[in-house]
Amino acid sequence: MTSEQSRYWSSRTAFVMAAVGSAVGLGNLWRFPYIAYNNGGGAFLIPWLVALFTAGIPLMRLEFALGTRFRAGAPKAFQSLNPKYAWVGWGTLLVGLVIVFYYAVVMAWSVLFMGHSITVSWRENAAGFFNGRILGLTKSIGDLGGIQWATLGALVFVWAIIFLIIFKGPKVVGKVVAWTVPLPALLIVVFIIRGVTLPGALSGLKFYLKPDFSKLLDIGVWRAAYGQIFFSLSLAFGIMIAYAKYQPPERTEVNRNAWITSVTNCSISFIAGFAVFTVIGYLATSTGQAIEGMKIGGPGLTFVTYPTAIQLMPVAPLFGVLFFIMLLTLGIDSAFSLVEAVICGIQDYVKTSKEKLTFWICLLGLVGGIIFCTGAGLHWLDLVDHFANETLLVFFGLMECIFAGWLFGFRKVRGFANEYSKVKIGLWWDVCIAVLTPAALIIVLGDTLWNSIRNPYGDYPAWALWLGGWGLMILVVIISVLLGFLVREKKSVE
Ligand code: TRP
Repeated sequence: MTSEQSRYWSSRTAFVMAAVGSAVGLGNLWRFPYIAYNNGGGAFLIPWLVALFTAGIPLMRLEFALGTRFRAGAPKAFQSLNPKYAWVGWGTLLVGLVIVFYYAVVMAWSVLFMGHSITVSWRENAAGFFNGRILGLTKSIGDLGGIQWATLGALVFVWAIIFLIIFKGPKVVGKVVAWTVPLPALLIVVFIIRGVTLPGALSGLKFYLKPDFSKLLDIGVWRAAYGQIFFSLSLAFGIMIAYAKYQPPERTEVNRNAWITSVTNCSISFIAGFAVFTVIGYLATSTGQAIEGMKIGGPGLTFVTYPTAIQLMPVAPLFGVLFFIMLLTLGIDSAFSLVEAVICGIQDYVKTSKEKLTFWICLLGLVGGIIFCTGAGLHWLDLVDHFANETLLVFFGLMECIFAGWLFGFRKVRGFANEYSKVKIGLWWDVCIAVLTPAALIIVLGDTLWNSIRNPYGDYPAWALWLGGWGLMILVVIISVLLGFLVREKKSVE
C-alpha cells in the first residue's frame, strides 16, 4: 500500500488537478454543446444546473469520501459497505469501459482532423468533409460500409499513447498537462472572439441562453441533463473513488475538493458553449435555416462547428493543429483515468502486474472501438452514447444513492466526508443524496422504460436498439452482478 500511495498524489493540489483532468475532456467541448443543442439550448441549462447542484456535487463528495475512507477502488469500496454491494462498483467500471470504447474513437477523429488541418483540405464545407472524408458515413446503422482504415489507424495511435502514459507513470503526464492547461484556455477565448464577431452569432447565443420554461416539463431534457452531469464529472464510473484512494486522508479536504472539481468542470462546459453556439448561429444565418432545425445535431455537431470557426481564422492551419492537439490533451487524461480505475478495481482482488493489466485493458479498448470505425460508426456511437449515458449511467448513479445513501446510511457517509474536511456539510447533502437525486433519477428511468416502447430513440431499427441499446445495457448489469458474487477477496488488504 505505501509504495502504491507514494506513487500518486504528492499534494492536495496534485489530487484536485488529476480529478479535474479526468472530468474536463471531450465531455465539455464535444458532448456538452451537442447535448445542449439537441435539448433546446437554453431549455437545457436549468435542468443541467439543477443536476449539478443536487446530484453532481453531492455524489462527487460521496465518491471522494468512499475512496478516502476505504482506500480502495470502486468494487472493494462498495464491498466494504456491505459484501453484497460490490456489484455496484463493478457496474460503474463496466459502464466506463463501454464509454471509453467510443470516447477513444472521438479522439481518433481529432487526430485525423489534426493531420488535415495542415493540408486544409476541409476548408470548403466542414459538414461534408467530416461525414464524407473522415467517417465515410453510411445512410443507415445496418449498412456498416467497411472499416475506415485511417480512423482505425488513428485509434491504434490513441490507445498506444494511453498505454504509454500509464506505463510511464502519471508523473510525466503531470508535467505535460501543466504545460497544456493554459493553451485550451487561450484557444477557447480566441474561438469565442471569432465566434461572437460572426454574422448571426447573436441568434445562436439567444438560442443557447434563453430559458424555455415550458421545456422543463419534458422529462427527456432532465434525463439528458443528469446523464451529461455524470458523464462530464466522471461520476458513477468508479474513477473518482479510485483517485481518492491515493490521497493521504489527513491532508485532504473532501468537501472542498469536490466543490472545486465540479464547479471548474461545469464552468468550462458553459464557456465552451459560447464558442459553439455562435458558430451555429452563423451557420444557420448563412444557409438560411432555422437554428432548431439544422441537420447537424448529434455527435458530429462540434466536428462541424469548430472547423467552420477555424477556417474563418487567419493562419487557419495553425489554429487547426492547436485546436485538435488541445482536444487530444483534454481527452487523454479522461480516458486514462478510467483505465486506472479499472486497474485499481481489479488489483484490490487479484495480485498481478500493473503493466500486464494495462496492456490487456488497452487492447480490449481498441477492439471494443472497432465497430465505431466503420462507415456506420457515427450511428452506433450516437446509439451507444445515448443508452450508456442516459440509461446505464443514470441507473448506476441511482444505485450509488440507494446502496451507499439509503441502505448503508447517508448519515454515516456524510460522517466520512466530514471526517476528512474542515468545511463540514450538513442536512442539505442528505436531502440531495437521499431524496432529490434518487427521486429525479427514478422518474427519469421510469420514463425511459415507459417511452422505450412507445417512441424508441432515434429512427434506428429494433434489432439495433436491442443490440447497441437495451441488450448491451442488460448485459452490463448481468456481468456486474456476476462479478459481485464471484470475485472474492484473495487476502485482506488492511
Ligand atoms: N469526464 C470525461 C469528459 O468530460 C468523460 C468521461 C467520463 C470518460 N467517464 C469516462 C471518458 C470514462 C472515458 C472513459 O470528457
